[in-house]
Amino acid sequence: MKFGPLLCGIMLILGLAACDSGNSPKLTVDYPEMDSPAFQNYRAQCSECHVPPRTTTHTADEWPSVIARMQQHRVQRRMAPMKVSEMTAVRDYLVRNAAVGTH
Ligand code: HEC
Repeated sequence: MKFGPLLCGIMLILGLAACDSGNSPKLTVDYPEMDSPAFQNYRAQCSECHVPPRTTTHTADEWPSVIARMQQHRVQRRMAPMKVSEMTAVRDYLVRNAAVGTH
């Protein structure tokens, strides 16, 4: 079904917008593929310094350079760098769930 991912993305945006309008502090947001190993890896790699950003905060073109910068932050803090396989999995996860178009 051609419009599946698009509709899903729209529903996600609407869902999150609805969450944001509440005034109770919410510690978690909904992420795509939350039951998948890809998400588990993303959460493991990207939650040590801040809350993992929503996948739609950058476009597919932008994510690789953001991930590379985060790798530098790890090195600066003397944390073990992400393995290439972990970085690739994070990148694939973010890219396939990224914001559509430019902003
Ligand atoms: C070693 C600590 C550390 C880890 C681990 C880390 N970040 Fe960050 N992140 C930072 C710092 C520091 C900033 C603020 C400075 C900056 O933007 O470079 C930041 C800011 C960001 C921002 C906001 C700035 C922007 O360009 O939009 C995004 C998005 C982001 N991180 C994504 C990620 C992702 C994706 C991962 C997992 C691959 C990750 N971070 C893991 C330290 C970290």
